[in-house]
Amino acid sequence: METRGTKPVIFLFTFPLQGHLNPNFQLANILFNRGFSITVIHTEFNSPNSSNFPHFTFVSIPDGLSDSEASNPDVIELLHDLNSKCVAPFDDCLKKLLSEEPTAACVIVDALWYFTDDLTEKFGIPRMVLRTVNLSAFVAFSKFHVLREKGYLSLQESQADSPVPELPYLRMKDLPWFQTEDPRSGDKLKRGVIKSLKSSSGIIFNAIEDLEAEQLDQTLKEFPVPLFCIGPFHRRVTASSSSLLTQDMTCLSWLDKQEPKSVIYASLGSIASMDESEFLEIAWGLRNSNQPFLWVVRPGSIRGTEWIEILPKGFIESIEGKGKIVKWAPQIEVLSHRATGGFLTHCGWNSTIESICEAVPMICKPSFGDQRVNARYISDVWRIGLHLENKIERLEIENCVRALMTSSHGEEMRKRIMPMKETAEQCVKLGGSSDRNLGNLIAYILSF
Ligand code: UDX
Repeated sequence: METRGTKPVIFLFTFPLQGHLNPNFQLANILFNRGFSITVIHTEFNSPNSSNFPHFTFVSIPDGLSDSEASNPDVIELLHDLNSKCVAPFDDCLKKLLSEEPTAACVIVDALWYFTDDLTEKFGIPRMVLRTVNLSAFVAFSKFHVLREKGYLSLQESQADSPVPELPYLRMKDLPWFQTEDPRSGDKLKRGVIKSLKSSSGIIFNAIEDLEAEQLDQTLKEFPVPLFCIGPFHRRVTASSSSLLTQDMTCLSWLDKQEPKSVIYASLGSIASMDESEFLEIAWGLRNSNQPFLWVVRPGSIRGTEWIEILPKGFIESIEGKGKIVKWAPQIEVLSHRATGGFLTHCGWNSTIESICEAVPMICKPSFGDQRVNARYISDVWRIGLHLENKIERLEIENCVRALMTSSHGEEMRKRIMPMKETAEQCVKLGGSSDRNLGNLIAYILSF
């Protein structure tokens, strides 16, 4: 173990999914920059590239996932497997780390590690939790018991548009829903996460309280622990090097050749998948919009295919110069490029906050979990995007892209997202809400 000098030590237990690794490592960098020494605990599955972070100490734990478990398309089952298989390895790891660093300040765990409460209590070390969703989605998740009790989570199609009385901005179809074979599995996850959050020493959010003041009040009422909204994380540290896939940097030189705000960037994040027909409808919709597009098609994201081999013959030639398809992009740089004018997104919270920070309005195609809540906020509360709510069809994609990129409707969204971008910029500056909250978080950790 490297010599830590007098720096207070934090153990950070990262969760091995892309949408979690990015904010986990951003938080680690933020705390490192404020004088902490960071030990990253990670699984062998989706293990991060430690050479990108020579300033951290890395400890790998054996997760014991079999190949079939590691590639389980049911992500909720995968989360449960990780939680059950990592109990003993995390126990051993913590015991060893604490024998070497008995004065470590605290452990920070990603909220999806819901099993960690008993162990950290056993070792008597404070446990803070990083929740990677925003407050609006968090409130919707935290009301899970009452939503289940009232039967809202198993409603018929006919009630999909009915409002949810307990969550004023949401309709039944916006409630967080999980892609899993067994609905009890989703409930088990929510129950585990809520219990572990309530017994934590505090919760850290990659969120901006000025944008979600009402939801912060609600969260404070339900969770009697200190809360720290210190986002947007990526605005405090340089672009992430925690990417599990290789980012195709040719995107940037391609964007350099496009007109300002002319390109629609399309990406459905690191987990969401689609079937072949949806993929083809999106392909034709983007092409027929006649707008330049940069499209991330993650290998394996089209069910039953490797990559884009099902595109009809001649399609790639037909988009020559107008469209570019890549496997993975440097998303933060793409969104901040002057040529990018819109984002067709699955509305994961990282993608959403990254888009807000660059004032790029969105077309929402949510899949599961918090993405539906985010899509509703983007399209109907903040009104900075359009929502693809019906079956995915090429004409609708084409019309939405045109509306967002070239109509006065799109222009209004662009105007409405500007003050949100400014808020995101101001809040991390000296005296801004996230800056104050970060100061409080640091003082709080040092008080343990
Ligand atoms: C999921 C949930 O949807 C999200 O809300 C939750 O907080 C984390 O898990 P994911 O599907 O990975 O996340 O989406 P998102 O939250 O948007 O995170 C994706 C990350 O990958 C972003 O930080 C984005 O910048 C990055 N990315 C995406 C790339 O670097 N390149 C790409 O081509 C696409």
